[in-house]
Amino acid sequence: MTKARRMMQENMALIDLLIELTDARAPQSGRNPDIDSLAKGKSRIIVLNKSDLADSEVTDRWRAFYEKDGILTAAVDSRKGSGVRQLKPLIDKACEEKIERNRRRGIVNRPVRAMIAGIPNVGKSTFINSFAGKAVAKTGDKPGVTKGKQWIRLNKNVELLDTPGILWPKFDDQVIGMRLAILGSIRDEITDEGELAVWLIRYLTDQYPDALEARYRLEMDQQNVPGDPALAILERIAVCRGCLKAGGQADLSKAAKVLIDDFRSGRLGRITLERP
Ligand code: G4P
Repeated sequence: MTKARRMMQENMALIDLLIELTDARAPQSGRNPDIDSLAKGKSRIIVLNKSDLADSEVTDRWRAFYEKDGILTAAVDSRKGSGVRQLKPLIDKACEEKIERNRRRGIVNRPVRAMIAGIPNVGKSTFINSFAGKAVAKTGDKPGVTKGKQWIRLNKNVELLDTPGILWPKFDDQVIGMRLAILGSIRDEITDEGELAVWLIRYLTDQYPDALEARYRLEMDQQNVPGDPALAILERIAVCRGCLKAGGQADLSKAAKVLIDDFRSGRLGRITLERP
C-alpha cells in the first residue's frame, strides 16, 4: 500500500488529467478517499465501469451526483467497449483549459498527459485495452529509450500513461468493506462469504425484491419462517442449487459462494449496491 501510494504520487506529478475508474455497482465505496488530495489541482474524469452489471437508473443518478461537483463522468462497459468512445471528447473537454493555458504561455505541441487509476479488479487493464488498444504508438517505444514511462498517444493533444495507477481500497465503515468484498475488490480469503451472502440477501430483499425469487424460485412465505429470514433464504438457495453436505444438510458456505458468484457475473440482474 505504501508502495502503491508512492507510485501514485510519482505518476501524479507527471500528469495533467486523472481518469478515475470506479465500479458502477458501488461507485462511491470503490473510490479511494485519498484521491482528492492526491489529485489536487488535476483535471478529473470519473468513469463508472462495469455499467453493464449496474442498475442503469442508479448509474444516471451517480453521474448527476458527481457532475454537480463539476467532475465529468462516463458510464462504460469496457469488456464490450460500449460507451468507451465518448471518452475522447470528454478528455478534450477536461483538458481545454490546460491546452489554452499552455497556448497563452507560448507552449505549443506539448500534449496533455493522462493516467487511469482505480482499485484492484475495477477493470483498469480491460479499459486501457478497449480505450487505447489500437493506439499502439508508444512514445518511449524506441530502441535505447527503455527507461522511463511509456505513453500512448491518443491524439495530437493527449497522451495516456500505459500502466494504470493502482489505488488501494480504504474504508472505516464496515458497510463499505462489505460492498467492496461483494464486488471482489477485497480478497475473498480475508472475508467471510457467509456474512457477505447474508448482507447481500438483506440488501436484495429490500431493494431488488424480485431478483432472488427470479433466480432461485424461493417459493417461500418469508413472514412465516422462524429465525433469521436471510439465513432461511440462504438455506433455500443451498437446496435449490444442490449445495448439500454428506448427511443432506444445507451447505451454507457453498450456497454463499454460488450467490456471490451469481451477483458478480450479473446472473441476478443489474444491481447497484449503493445510491447517492
Ligand atoms: P484491473 O486491471 O483493474 O485489476 O481489472 P481487470 O481489467 O483485470 O478486470 C477485472 C475483471 O473485470 C475481469 O474479469 C474483466 O473482464 C472484468 N471487467 C472489466 N471491465 C468490465 C466491464 O465493463 N464489464 C464487465 N462485465 N466486466 C468487466 P475476470 O473474470 O477477472 O477476467 P476475464 O475472465 O474476463 O478475463
